[in-house]
Formats: sequence, structure tokens, C-alpha cells
Amino acid sequence: MFKFIQTWFWVSLGWNISAVVLIHEVVMVASTASSVVFPTADFTRVPYSVFVDQEVYEREQQRLFRGSTWCYLGLEAEIPNPGDFKTTVMGDTPVVLNRDRQGELRAFVNRCSHRGAIVRREACGNAKEHRCIYHQWCFNLKGELTGVPYQNGMQGKGGYPDDFDKSQHGLTPIRVESYKGIVFGSFDWDIEPLDSYLDTHLRYHFDKVFHKPVKVLGYMRQLIPGNWKLYFENVKDPYHAGLLHLFHATFGLYRSTQKGGVVLDKHQGHSIIYNIGGNYDKKEAEVQYKDQQKYEQSYKLVDPSILKQRPDFDDGVANRIMSVFPSVVVQQILNTLATRHIRPKGPDEFELYWTYFGYADDDEELTQIRLKQANFVGPSGFISMEDGEAVRLVQEGIRREQDQYSVIEMDGRGEIRDIDHLVSEVPMRGFWKRYAELMNYDVEVAQ
Ligand code: FES
Ligand SMILES: [Fe+2]
Repeated sequence: MFKFIQTWFWVSLGWNISAVVLIHEVVMVASTASSVVFPTADFTRVPYSVFVDQEVYEREQQRLFRGSTWCYLGLEAEIPNPGDFKTTVMGDTPVVLNRDRQGELRAFVNRCSHRGAIVRREACGNAKEHRCIYHQWCFNLKGELTGVPYQNGMQGKGGYPDDFDKSQHGLTPIRVESYKGIVFGSFDWDIEPLDSYLDTHLRYHFDKVFHKPVKVLGYMRQLIPGNWKLYFENVKDPYHAGLLHLFHATFGLYRSTQKGGVVLDKHQGHSIIYNIGGNYDKKEAEVQYKDQQKYEQSYKLVDPSILKQRPDFDDGVANRIMSVFPSVVVQQILNTLATRHIRPKGPDEFELYWTYFGYADDDEELTQIRLKQANFVGPSGFISMEDGEAVRLVQEGIRREQDQYSVIEMDGRGEIRDIDHLVSEVPMRGFWKRYAELMNYDVEVAQ
């Protein structure tokens, strides 16, 4: 079927293809509803159709979020006790994560095995069982069906057939693993273990950030009118931070000349962006930003207390943006610790679900610092509100330009590699490489 459609396009759109060949010096076919082709082997071009097309979106749900990946479910700290549960998603599949009576983590599709209703509607809670409101089917904390009203009918009438077997109608289980209290789920029961999936660099930074028990401080949610992958592009592009974010530039908080870099995993779909030293240093900022229009030297914060910090780590890292393909970003920005769960809701909308946390043994002053600094990031954060708007602008710009491509060449073409500076788009190309592999999309080789 795939080959057939591709052939049909070659014949019917031949005139179009020759024009494209002239421009990119590669042989390619136009992206169609059922086929996407990356026109360069180093992923310096990304077809805009991947951000817009409904069939691409459906394929992502099957091959990424319900395929051979580990998807973020939550933090163990959110469900510390037996019976604690939270509702979450893997892609757009609703999921319940709970601890059973023995305290073991378990996850299920949040879909009643009777006629498909969402079973758990609350964000979180504690329960002995999960009961569907529609016809009251009841499931235990292992997801097993334990109760069916009128199973034997009423006054000799109705009821289920004699061979109705409750053990065949439990909630669909999801494989669960936790690394340092960060819980992930997978639909693939044969997937590699989570610690191998995360690989060396993510484990190193997770070991640091989750070196002692954490406590949840709160949540924020935002709907962004754009494709979920544009957000991954955003967090894998360190050089926009000093340009897009006016607060950064104005107060010299983040400078692309700072020491930092990006490291990738073995598949290059995950990344850790870090920079050293984020303190406000007015003199240094004046030097770094002297030619930049945005840096307004006369501006100063009326209340600079948001910049007060008590470093959690001894490595001097001010920002640590850790992204785990394909569902979550974990951040340390000064004292602000958070997970950002990416929850797709169709090709052109996703929810960002922020979970802010500190350490269980934080004193009150440190908790207040973390809460105040939470104003840096989130839906209206001083240094992140522009990200949602940038994503929206891209989505609007490309909607009718699905046969065009983005240009990803900052820091060169060719090899995808770790970098030791902050002026680069190379980590984005690693994301697209992993994406194309798992989506089984074709990549054309230059001729
Ligand atoms: S749909 Fe859940 S009990 Fe009927
Ligand atoms: Fe940003």
C-alpha cells in the first residue's frame, strides 16, 4: 500500500518533483498523507507536514507513544502510599498510575473494559478500587475486574452468560519502571529496561537532581496551539534563549557566550542542555549585550528578590534542561525544579503539564525561593511565556506550506554530535533522526 501510493505520486506530481530536485539537489517525493520523506540524511531539513498532518499524528500515537518507547507518567512522590493514584496520559491515551495494596507501582489504560468509558476522572486521590460510573464495573488496584452489577441478572432475568469470565476483562496493563523516583510506562513489554533507555548522560543528571527524596510543590498547565514536536525543537535549541526571551536579554541572565553545551544519548533523541553560572552580573551583561538592541541598560528590577538563590548543586550548573524522547522535559533552572509533561491533543495542539518540586528536607526559606523562582517558567513565566507564542507562530506559518521544509543548519551540517557551546541546532537534528527511525520514515541520500 505504501509503495503504491508513493508510485502514484511519482506519476501524478512529476512536474513538482523536478522543481524540488533543482532546489535541494536531492531526489525526493512530496510528503503525502501516508508518506513522509526527510530530504537530507543529516536532518537539516524537516518537512512541515509532520507538524500538521492528521495521519502523521495517528502514526505517532501508535509507533511512538504506544510503541517501543518509555513515556513519562509522573513522580513517585505524587503517589507515596498504597491506594494513591494519579491520572495521566501516554501520548493521547488516558492512563491511571497507582500503587497497589503492597505499594507496587502499576499503570493501566484508563478505559473501562465494559464499554470504554474513562474510569478515573479525578487528577489524583487515594482509593481502594477504581469504579466506572457508567455501569459500576469495579477494578482493584492491580486492574483486575472484581465486581459486575447484575452479573447473575435480576429475579431470573438478564445477567451475563454463564461462561462470562471476569479475569478476561481487566484494565489493559502498562509496563512500569521508575528511575530515581521518575516513573515511566511502556506499551512494549519487550522494550529495553528504563535505565538502559535513558542512557549514561540522563542517568548522570537524574542522579544529581534526584539525589534525595523530593516533594511536589504544585502544578501548572497550559494549552499551546501548536504541534507537540515544536516544543521539543524549542528545548533542544539553546541559542534562541538569549534572543527570544526578552527578560534573559534585558537582564543578561542567559548569554550564549556562557560556558555550557549539549550531550546526547546513544540514539540522539534525548538531550541535556546545560550552562554554567546564571547569576545576574550587571557589569558582565553590559559587555555581552552592548550591541544588542534588546538590552536596555537603564532597566532594573524593582524587586530583585526573584534572583535570590541557594545553589542545590556544586557543579555550578544554572540551567539543566533534560529531555527524554518522546514525552517529557525535566528542568533545573537555578532553584526551580520541574517536570514538563508533553500531552499531545492532535496535530495542532498540546498541553504542557508542569509539576514543580523541591526536596523533602527543604527548609521554609528554600521552599519560598523555589516558589518565587517558579515565576521564571510556566505559562506566563518571565523566561518562557514566549516559547508558547513562538510555537504558535510556527504552526500558523506552516499550515498551508506542508510541502516546504525548515532549515536547521546553525552549527553546521553533517555529523550529529555532542557540543561544548550554546549556539547550535545540532541537538534538534538528533531528535529528528530518532523520530524518523521510530516512525520508519524514509530519509533520502544526496546524489
Ligand atoms: S462503561 Fe464502564 S461500567 Fe459500563
Ligand atoms: Fe525558550
